[in-house]
Amino acid sequence: MINFLLCGGSGTRLWPISRKNFPKQFCKLIGEQSLFQNTISRNLPNCSRQMIIANKENVFMAMDQIEEAKGTGAGVRYVLEPVGRNTAPAIALGCFYCDPDDVILVTPTDHMIQKLDIYEETLQMAQDAAKAGYIVTFGIMPTAPETGYGYIESEESSEPVRKVVCFKEKPDAKTAQEYVDSGRFYWNSGMFCFTAKVFLEELEKYAPEIYNKSKKAFEASLIEDEVCNVDMDDMLAIPSDSIDYAVMEKSDCVKVIPSSFVWNDVGSYDALETELPSTEDGNTDLDHHISINSKNNMIYSDKVIATVDVEDLIIVDTIDAMLIAKKGSSQKVKDVVNMLNKRG
Ligand code: GDD
Ligand code: MG
Repeated sequence: MINFLLCGGSGTRLWPISRKNFPKQFCKLIGEQSLFQNTISRNLPNCSRQMIIANKENVFMAMDQIEEAKGTGAGVRYVLEPVGRNTAPAIALGCFYCDPDDVILVTPTDHMIQKLDIYEETLQMAQDAAKAGYIVTFGIMPTAPETGYGYIESEESSEPVRKVVCFKEKPDAKTAQEYVDSGRFYWNSGMFCFTAKVFLEELEKYAPEIYNKSKKAFEASLIEDEVCNVDMDDMLAIPSDSIDYAVMEKSDCVKVIPSSFVWNDVGSYDALETELPSTEDGNTDLDHHISINSKNNMIYSDKVIATVDVEDLIIVDTIDAMLIAKKGSSQKVKDVVNMLNKRG
């Protein structure tokens, strides 16, 4: 399979670690590898080739990190977007740069996955279903009525690969709660598996303007040394939409594999905290944290940090900016970035 690595987002809810010029997928948040490198490594057993779809301005970070993760730059192609138009055009451009029968695994590059043996088995099943002409999604058992995810209703079945009854992207809070209560819905993991041909056929059927303008943009692009450079005006002509709204909500050939690997989209500090080792007091386990009667604090810093009598804080310290937030409020960190952008 070819691993499409989507590198478009800037991860504003992980400010100040994640910045426009250094998005979260390239940060080494935990351990020696970035989320981007982890993504490549975990997919290598099933995907020997990679298609990196990224913004022109920060693709050099992907180029820098890929050899370290893969051991070689061979088998890697790039689609460089001068400006992002969301995931439907990004994936379409990648598919035009493939053979129609190539099986593609689309992955975000900012997720964490554990239980890799189960993950690999799941990918094998997905590959077979993709070859049979389906668009395959990976269903995650929901733990809360999150409104930032897509929801997949699966047919009642004990088969590992199931028909999808309905796909709903980002429902409102009431609907999300109903979905969770019904027990028939999964979260969409944001990963997809299909052949280039099937995806492009479905896109042409349900979002013909995105299909036509992406095709035109690809055909007019400059391709050199495995790099496809898309022109700014051609890119701007493509309507902006996500694969979830443009194709997944509408297509009749979607399947879901209810998945039991551990999945975390690391969208916020509250989500990141669940991945960090902690002490008995519930603080992040850091040698250089001095805790005086402090509990359940998430701390991210290279400096010595001391806390006295504080609980349930998120403390993120970087060289030029610091964040202090209440646990549970980390979704609002994107408002900080909006304010900073307004200030200029
Ligand atoms: N190359 C490129 N260009 N990548 C992009 C672009 C773009 O214009 N826009 C977004 N991406 C990348 C992001 O960096 C991320 O890795 C991935 O595509 C998904 O985009 P998000 O913006 O993070 O989507 P989302 O989180 O709102 O929703 C998606 O993921 C959820 C799971 O995390 C959907 O697929 C939901 O259904 C799903 O539940
Ligand atoms: Mg996301």
